[in-house]
Amino acid sequence: MKDVTLKKKCRICHSNNLYKFLDLSSMPIPNGFLKKEKLKDQESYYDLACQYCIDCGLVQLTNVVNPEIMFRDYLYIPSTAKMMMNNFSNLVYQANRMHKLSTSSLVADIGSNDGSLLRFFKSFGAKVLGIDPAENLAKIANEQGIPTEPLLFNTKTALKMKQKYGQADIVTATNVIAHIDDLHGVWGGISNFLAEDGLFITEFPYLLDLISKNQFDTIYHEHLSYFSLKPWKKIVEEYGFKIINAERRLIHGGSIRLTHKRRKNKKNKHARNAEYLILLEEKFGLYKPEAFEQFSKRVMGLKDQLLSLLTNLKSKNKKIVGYGAAAKGNVLTNFFGINSKILDFIVDSTPYKHGLFTPGTHIPIYPESKIEEFSPDYLLILAWNFADEIMEKQKKYKKRGGHFIIPIPKVEVI
Ligand code: TMP
Ligand code: ZN
Repeated sequence: MKDVTLKKKCRICHSNNLYKFLDLSSMPIPNGFLKKEKLKDQESYYDLACQYCIDCGLVQLTNVVNPEIMFRDYLYIPSTAKMMMNNFSNLVYQANRMHKLSTSSLVADIGSNDGSLLRFFKSFGAKVLGIDPAENLAKIANEQGIPTEPLLFNTKTALKMKQKYGQADIVTATNVIAHIDDLHGVWGGISNFLAEDGLFITEFPYLLDLISKNQFDTIYHEHLSYFSLKPWKKIVEEYGFKIINAERRLIHGGSIRLTHKRRKNKKNKHARNAEYLILLEEKFGLYKPEAFEQFSKRVMGLKDQLLSLLTNLKSKNKKIVGYGAAAKGNVLTNFFGINSKILDFIVDSTPYKHGLFTPGTHIPIYPESKIEEFSPDYLLILAWNFADEIMEKQKKYKKRGGHFIIPIPKVEVI
């Protein structure tokens, strides 16, 4: 496979009626943190722009970077933020209510990472199976008692797993479907692997939140699709399923959790809350190009506002530090041109990021404890999806007179 493939046809409906809207120019893969000795090397830059399918409504990137490049050394481990863990435990509790778990139930998780979600299912007594192409993560999960196959989930591998483990009672996929180019392969796999009365539960960031709350920085190379329910419903039906529950969740700045079951016949309706959300999407104007034009304009407005605030503070010799070396933060800083002249460093709670530098902008990353020693005047919260949790954690800093800057959905100083 080439390093980059131009996406000329829609991932869901194969139409070539695609409309390009937000061009974030080119930047390195935002999870490509650098070691000090690599700073002198030339980094690879990849174009980052969106397009909207006029026929089915799916928003998707214009380019697909070879997954080998993006996931070769995949280091992303879901943060242990309280909000994440609460969301996982809520998902499992809900799944158990809809499909009683027992020691004979098999739950398979697509993109299982280090097994964080399956651990909750295991505590309900179910047999679990992780599926994740990152060999390093599969190894960690296996060592920690979560059986995990280092595989990419598709029709072929799903059949293999069915032969080896039997049919799954529940298949889950949280924050992974948008990363996969071959969406039809995923649905083919689900359709093969899931028991007749099984449940498929998935969660991903919701396009309606992304657009209405200006979350442009969640657009990056790993995220190939930005789903809303209208195009999603199309592919669900194509594989003979129906949505039995659609629920908006606060996680990651606004996500949607969808539960699916096989459709007995074509008259079988989707859940009312799913149909209601499609109406809401239409009312918002999500299926008209103007919505995306206006969104792009708002993003450029945010850029002007944040840059003028930061340069003004710098001209007064204020010390500014970034909070949260999230991939989305790397999109924002690269696109806005925020480098180590503006942010002295970024703090992050994840130990493996400490001592590394952000891709493109080369800002050093330190543990959160560095704040006390350095005493910045402003903390720019790049991990804005955890802003409440971070501000609560940094109460002492605030008491000492420190300020927070939240960049999204609007620039706010607290
Ligand atoms: P994510 O949204 O991609 O998980 O990234 C969030 C980043 O924010 C992750 O690198 C961890 C970091 N973080 C902190 O540094 N402190 C915190 O209190 C929280 C909740 C997250
Ligand atoms: Zn389409």
